[in-house]
Amino acid sequence: MLIRDSSILAVRRNGYDIMYPALRDCRCHSSTCSVRRESRGRDDAFLRSPRMPIWEELLDAIHDKQPVSGLTHSFYKYPARFSPAFARQMILAFSKPGELVFDPFMGGGTTLVEACALGRSAIGTDINSLSVFLAETKTSMFTRAEIGHLRSWAYDLIPKLNLRRRSVHAREWAELGYQRNISGRSTWPIRKTLELALRSVQQLESKREQKFARCALLRTAQWALDCREDIPSASEIRKRFLFFVTEMIDGARQFTTTVRKNGMNPKIVCLHRSAIGIEAERAIKEYGAPALILTSPPYPGVHVLYHRWQVLGRRETPAPFWIAGTLDGAGGSFYTFGDRKQDRLLKYYGQARLAFTSVAKMASSETIIVQMVAFSEPRWQLRSYLKVMEDCGLTEVKHPQLTNHTDGRVWRSVPNRRWYADKGGATGGSKEVVLFHKRA
Ligand SMILES: C[S@@+](CC[C@H](N)C(=O)[O-])C[C@H]1O[C@@H](n2cnc3c(N)ncnc32)[C@H](O)[C@@H]1O
Repeated sequence: MLIRDSSILAVRRNGYDIMYPALRDCRCHSSTCSVRRESRGRDDAFLRSPRMPIWEELLDAIHDKQPVSGLTHSFYKYPARFSPAFARQMILAFSKPGELVFDPFMGGGTTLVEACALGRSAIGTDINSLSVFLAETKTSMFTRAEIGHLRSWAYDLIPKLNLRRRSVHAREWAELGYQRNISGRSTWPIRKTLELALRSVQQLESKREQKFARCALLRTAQWALDCREDIPSASEIRKRFLFFVTEMIDGARQFTTTVRKNGMNPKIVCLHRSAIGIEAERAIKEYGAPALILTSPPYPGVHVLYHRWQVLGRRETPAPFWIAGTLDGAGGSFYTFGDRKQDRLLKYYGQARLAFTSVAKMASSETIIVQMVAFSEPRWQLRSYLKVMEDCGLTEVKHPQLTNHTDGRVWRSVPNRRWYADKGGATGGSKEVVLFHKRA
């Protein structure tokens, strides 16, 4: 349920409100303006923290299954992404405004978006160039002029998306295989629409605007191609594109307004690199230890396609990289700490050990490390996972107020992952647990 008053947009979920400053705000720029003063007062109250964790809110947020919305979260459906409510409550509970939040496996950038919206600085790393593209785009702050350019670009583009026009064939990308499985009888109109649209992206002045435009096309193409049996017509795609652009512009404005209102000037760093060795990264030396490390690593035994879409059933395409203008790193196991079919997941745990050794070196004795981890076979996989954490010098912290299981932890079953199940469908019943650690 959406509640609007003059200065707050509240999304009511599970009996509590998640508040974002409303889109409409006084624009008089007067330092004595009562509307601005009042809304600033409310934001300060909203940003209070760290506070005593409100355990019920944390539990609700862990189980949050609402459709992802608000700020820039709807820019793309990154597989296995956090619920924003989960990230938000963890950041509120375990860090202060102005402090640093780090996500070593940032994926779609949920942690970074929520951290900045709450006045924290944020660093994220990921080996997937698509993730870095998304996190940068979703945390970009746009001026009113840039928003105007983007709106005009989108509306001017529609009449140009005529399938009878000659497109510039993206030959190099095609030769490298990035258009695999999107040139068939029902899919070619989408490929051609994208080719026509991508040509126009260069007209936008700044890199930031160009990335936003590519992201709007990415979102539209994901809707049209990924995990669906029927391919929509070119005219349906044009309509959807305008719908997504409008929604994304609202989200970008909401994000920019929220960050500016906090007056905290958060720093945002998105790095295209592995978490392994992150402690030696020059680009982040100056930031010191994060107050909170909030993350979800690749999951043991769970097959998630971070880098492909599944077209017409199980035909995979790397087209998202072509649309984003970034390069794919390698095959699926590159993004998942190894092949899920390896014996006892030895490669997986080896990579996890290296990554968390580095993550632990980033932490101080005060840093809280919160992870959401899914398992296909929790019984033995969790034990091995906890052993890796221990080997990396991390001690588990249990919160007696935060449990729904006899093991003293909080578990949730994973919704909607069937499309990313492997051929045997083994991941349909995977479960996620929230783990808290500190440096030993
Ligand atoms: C479960 S997803 C993270 C989703 C994220 N929490 C979100 O809200 O979108 C795990 C991510 O880890 C990334 N990854 C895998 N190996 C990595 C490594 N060695 N270093 C950094 N990132 C890695 C994958 O590319 C993937 O994006």
